[in-house]
Amino acid sequence: ADYKYIQVETKDQLGLVMLNRPKVLNALNRQMVSEIVQALESFEQNDRIRVMVVYGNGRAFAAGADIDEMAVDNPVSLELLNQFTEWDRLSLLKKPVICAVHGFALGGGFELALACDLLFAAEDTKFGFPEVNLAVMPGAGGTQRLTKLIGKTLALEWLWSGEMREAGEASRLGIVNKLFPKEVLIEETIKYAQMLSKKPPLSLRLIKESVSKAVDYSLYEGMQFERKNFYLLFASEDQKEGMNAFIEKRKANFKGR
Ligand code: HXC
Repeated sequence: ADYKYIQVETKDQLGLVMLNRPKVLNALNRQMVSEIVQALESFEQNDRIRVMVVYGNGRAFAAGADIDEMAVDNPVSLELLNQFTEWDRLSLLKKPVICAVHGFALGGGFELALACDLLFAAEDTKFGFPEVNLAVMPGAGGTQRLTKLIGKTLALEWLWSGEMREAGEASRLGIVNKLFPKEVLIEETIKYAQMLSKKPPLSLRLIKESVSKAVDYSLYEGMQFERKNFYLLFASEDQKEGMNAFIEKRKANFKGR
């Protein structure tokens, strides 16, 4: 596909998506969001791809939704536009998605990062939800995902103030998986993604699905769900391969079936 605001590439079994509107700090206009979702969905459909990575070109990961584009909106135009169904498709991806951020991860950019599975950050990253300063609020899951991660009072304080916080603090709050010096962020993220791509894909997939149920199911229902997924993995060739390789003291080679 021909994309205008992103660049897409594959590397071994990884699918890489680079946000590419560096002049405006990768401000997410609607076409760009649509391209990101399309690119990830096409990696999802591609049997050779096992792990996806999203990152940004230039000075920042993304400084939020495109304010120029939003400035003229009204509730009816937003309702008719129905842009968030596109964002919702991100949560339907079953393969691991790692987001690697640097510079700024603000507003919609932060929401995009929180919609991914793992968040790796350069030490220079500033995180925040500046929407309040524009007299609006997050709309792509920010209030929900942030609160589930850090709890109500911390989330409220951060969202109300609209302040930017350093990567180190975001990491202490449990939002960031790994912190790297800026120069090696992408290289280290790819290294990690390569490691993950050697793991049995069906396990990764059903672990992701089960963990996400822990967020919205009761413990009992979540455990029933986990159990079914556990049983299901015993129908895979990879389960036999993984266990036989252990018994035969050799390295397993997983096929994803
Ligand atoms: C449109 C943006 C932008 C944005 C930056 N730019 N962020 N354009 N939408 N969100 C543009 C600037 O206008 C400028 O263009 C260029 O990018 C470089 O930015 P500067 O401001 O010159 O850089 P700097 O002084 O380093 O300041 C960086 C910054 C600041 C602190 C990140 O750009 C900033 O405050 N940006 C807006 C952040 C924000 O409010 N985001 C939330 C948006 S609301 P020119 O042409 O002047 O060079 C949102 C809601 C999501 O995300 C709802 C769900 C989708």
